[in-house]
Amino acid sequence: MEILLTGGAGYVGSACLRWLLKQGHDPVAYDDLSLGNEWAVPKERLVIGDILDFDTLCATLLDRQIEGVIHFAALAVVPESVSDPASYWRTNVIGTKTLLDAMRECDVKKLVFSSTCAVYGEKHTPPLVEDMTCDPCHPYGTTKWASEQMIREYTAAYGIGHTILRYFNVSGADPDGQFGESRRHETHLIPLVLAVATGKREKLLIFGDDWPTRDGTCVRDYIHTDDLASAHQLALETLEPGMNRIYNVGTGVGVSVMEVLRACEAAVGHPIAHEVVGRRPGDPAVLFANSEKIQKELGWQPRYTDIRDIVATAWKWHNENPRG
Ligand code: UFG
Repeated sequence: MEILLTGGAGYVGSACLRWLLKQGHDPVAYDDLSLGNEWAVPKERLVIGDILDFDTLCATLLDRQIEGVIHFAALAVVPESVSDPASYWRTNVIGTKTLLDAMRECDVKKLVFSSTCAVYGEKHTPPLVEDMTCDPCHPYGTTKWASEQMIREYTAAYGIGHTILRYFNVSGADPDGQFGESRRHETHLIPLVLAVATGKREKLLIFGDDWPTRDGTCVRDYIHTDDLASAHQLALETLEPGMNRIYNVGTGVGVSVMEVLRACEAAVGHPIAHEVVGRRPGDPAVLFANSEKIQKELGWQPRYTDIRDIVATAWKWHNENPRG
């Protein structure tokens, strides 16, 4: 299938592009390279363009005879969304609207949308299930939730079939060690731990060890990029115009910050310097998925359910690419 991946040069988008290529699809990345990496995508599969640029989006959909779109392009740093909500509403919500309008214009009727477990907010006790009420508590989550609703309304009115995938903590790297997580301003746990191991950072700051969890550190559900990519593949291959589906994509396994650190130390082979500091504002104590719906309906199964295997792939890449 001819597939457009907005944000396809980013960490998740480029992993998905490589995966789709291996499965025999014909994917093209559409990315303005503000956060994405040119080196992460084969040259002939990269269109440089802005998600707010309706004309270039339309030209790309038509030129490349696109049948389905996977919409990754977004801003996704929670604290930044709190200090600069305007940028988040512009890129995430107006960006999604521009894309939907281009798809209408060009009669493209299949959309897979990258959403987040942050749409559920903080009221529920995990595991999180798709039909729980949504009440996001920061602009990143609000803009993804608003986009989800816009997509639902476009499906109802214009017949664009969609699948919303609500990601948990995306992690890991290409198992061949060629591609990995590389951002200009890193905030995510695993790359920060490994940056200490490669000497790029002095120590890991652990944001609180007084949470109501088994070891006092926060618990998250870490999902490997290849497993996430296979969820996108299944979501797109089974999508029909007019469809309306939502799936959580996580392993269902909760892992604490301390357990991530220990898994990284095992992969690296030595202790990693760290210090416990105060809690980070906005962090929920525990988040993990119930992913039974996608397993039952699409036959999806995560291959990486042990955090040690996930960090081993991340370490292979960081160790061979210490500058990122
Ligand atoms: N953490 C540390 N030290 C660090 C970085 C992170 O202790 O230097 C902790 C955090 O407090 C958190 C855990 O490690 O408990 C994971 O933090 P990340 O920043 O890696 O990921 P988050 O769980 O905060 O964020 C993820 C997604 C977001 C999404 C959010 C929803 O990356 O896109 O979940 O809660 F919005």
